[in-house]
Amino acid sequence: MTSFPAHPKIKHKKMIFMFSPYLIREDFPILKRKINGHPLIYFDNAATSQKPRQVIKAVKEFYEKHNANIHRAVHTLSHEATELYEEAHEEVAKFINARGMEEIVFTRGTTEAINLVAYSWTLRNLKTEDEVLLSLMEHHSNIVPWEILSEIKKFKVKYADVNGDGTLNYEAFEEAISRRTKMVCITHVSNVTGIVNDIKRIARVAHDYGALVLVDGAQSVPHMPVDVKGLDVDFLAFSGHKMLAPTGIGVLYGKRELLEELDPFHGGGEMIRDVSYNPARGRCIITWNTLPWKFEAGTPNVGGGVGLMAAIKYLKSLGMENVKAHEHTLTEYALKRLKDYPYITVYVPEETSTRSGIIPFNVDDFDSHDVALFLDGYGIMVRSGFHCAQPLHQRLNLHSSVRASFYVYNVKEEIDRLIEALKEIQQL
Ligand SMILES: Cc1ncc(COP(=O)(O)O)c(C=O)c1O
Repeated sequence: MTSFPAHPKIKHKKMIFMFSPYLIREDFPILKRKINGHPLIYFDNAATSQKPRQVIKAVKEFYEKHNANIHRAVHTLSHEATELYEEAHEEVAKFINARGMEEIVFTRGTTEAINLVAYSWTLRNLKTEDEVLLSLMEHHSNIVPWEILSEIKKFKVKYADVNGDGTLNYEAFEEAISRRTKMVCITHVSNVTGIVNDIKRIARVAHDYGALVLVDGAQSVPHMPVDVKGLDVDFLAFSGHKMLAPTGIGVLYGKRELLEELDPFHGGGEMIRDVSYNPARGRCIITWNTLPWKFEAGTPNVGGGVGLMAAIKYLKSLGMENVKAHEHTLTEYALKRLKDYPYITVYVPEETSTRSGIIPFNVDDFDSHDVALFLDGYGIMVRSGFHCAQPLHQRLNLHSSVRASFYVYNVKEEIDRLIEALKEIQQL
């Protein structure tokens, strides 16, 4: 297979901005690779995204020129590293419309951000009669921490049902919520079906009942504009590596007043203001650092923060509305083409406004892993299995599924290649 055609707008590069995935591709060195003799087609973006050279360069430059520990030393390098790391927090705050850096805690990823809230908030606040409400479409990282803690604190975890097409059953959600519900923890976008939940509506209902709202934004923040004030969420968790940044860096957004009240998750250096030994009491008296450092114990992932800042600048230069529109176009195109093959079943809802760029499907008579391995032979990377969302597969009566997920650098020609390969699998 030859490389993809240059986009006709390339010659206008300097004159006007056009969202061109063909131009964007040039920024991603990995896309030049061949796998099994075929140009790499990367459709596993919901698992992690590829990285543009701007992000790679920013991280490289940090280690070549500015590397030092932050908030500790008085020397120049430490000042530079501290400035970059704080600037990264500011950049994230602006990106999701938070009030400021104090509402942005850097974590290892979505999983750690959810665990932070689950442990810090639950251990202090929940009692036996309380409830936490999730949905059946959650990723395991928004299920397991709550189940672990409910064993310890004996509160109840409830699950709002989903409909047969994978959409949230809002009636079931409203029936499940009550004055006992203290927190609603729900994904913005399903990592299996790409279904976009109406977070504004969910937050309104939850707040009416006096419950807090934690949103898993792992599959939304990288793909669409997300405004924490507009949505009125209390906490939002997301991962840098799914939005062009390196692995090992993620974000917990929390409303300032809630983070102020919350106890730290991890203890250690950096998250304290003062630790003084009191001989009379035979113990140390500790006061916490200011936000967000109270939640960032130990030496943080400074290079990762720098990479995340570069990734956000890159996404902003593309425009998040453009990112969303591009993925929508690709998804509609792929769904239209897949319809021609009766032996392929896709699991997405009819209503287009509720979907993002993820397509789960199965091929008749084939296990999802066999399909993924077959596609790998053609250089096409897709995910197979449960995608860390086993309860949703159970609810939809699926053994497993194949998942193709798109991002800014994917093009229609790659979808055509996917379809060609899927036609061949049928002949086996
Ligand atoms: C919806 C959702 N939540 C949480 C996670 C966990 O993210 P991470 O592994 O980066 O912590 C993922 C990752 O696939 C996800 O898709």
